Amino acid sequence: MPYVSTMEIFKDGLAKGYGTPMFNCINYEMIRWCIEVAEEERMPVIIGHYFGFETNMDPAVSKMVTKYYAEKAKVPVALHLDHCPSASICYGRMKHFRSVMIDGSHYDFEENVRITKDVVRVAHQMGIVVEAELGKVGSAAKLEDISNPDNYTDVMQAIEFVERTKCDSLAVSIGNAHGTYVSAPNLAFDRLKELRSALDLPLVLHGGSGIPDEQFGRCAVEGMSKFNVFTDFNLALGSGIIKSYEEKGNKGGLTMLVDAREGCKEVIRHKMRMVNPKGLHVV
Ligand code: 13P
Repeated sequence: MPYVSTMEIFKDGLAKGYGTPMFNCINYEMIRWCIEVAEEERMPVIIGHYFGFETNMDPAVSKMVTKYYAEKAKVPVALHLDHCPSASICYGRMKHFRSVMIDGSHYDFEENVRITKDVVRVAHQMGIVVEAELGKVGSAAKLEDISNPDNYTDVMQAIEFVERTKCDSLAVSIGNAHGTYVSAPNLAFDRLKELRSALDLPLVLHGGSGIPDEQFGRCAVEGMSKFNVFTDFNLALGSGIIKSYEEKGNKGGLTMLVDAREGCKEVIRHKMRMVNPKGLHVV
């Protein structure tokens, strides 16, 4: 199957009732494992690339590896440029992607609209779809960031934001945050329901690590399309390497990476099943 746009995956997911995880990958192995699990589960997957991880992974390499395995796969695979905090970071990488995120949520509403609108105009001319963000998705390490309803995406603002920016999908805040949660989050499903019925575009959940399974799965049932995951995946890689060392000593990088594979694939499989409440297969 050729490698597809995120929007193709979202449309199918919304019609059939499944969500799709996006895993930020920092190396070749993580991309390969995501696509292997997607094939085993017979469900789509989105590979994420983040500029902050470019000390290890160039965007051109993310694209090359994803495209190589996507073209061999039977399931849809998409590649997405995650969290660009500025238009220039986004523009500098756009040629490698068919799906990008501009995150202007750290600006005030008007500035977020302005930046997002600019990126959408340029991206759409290139046939690229744009995810934007409204509301504060903060740090899971800060109780204030996950418990303050003032951080949630405002429904009326979201309607205006989507109308003015013409973004293709929207990342929202409902008490979710990035990283390891200080205490289990209590996602605001009332707000998600309101957003889902007020907006006619795919919704995105950031901070997909450490959210209790029941809440994570419920987001898919409530119509969320994309689920961003990094911390749980990255920690699984670290734990797998440590375990290999503890059990075998230093047998070298290859042994450690191979030993870490199953634990990482388990995280991918678990998240994928969680957002597929009907247990569907697309192929
Ligand atoms: P976590 O690291 O909390 O899983 O968040 C990932 C994310 O939202 C990337 O955009």
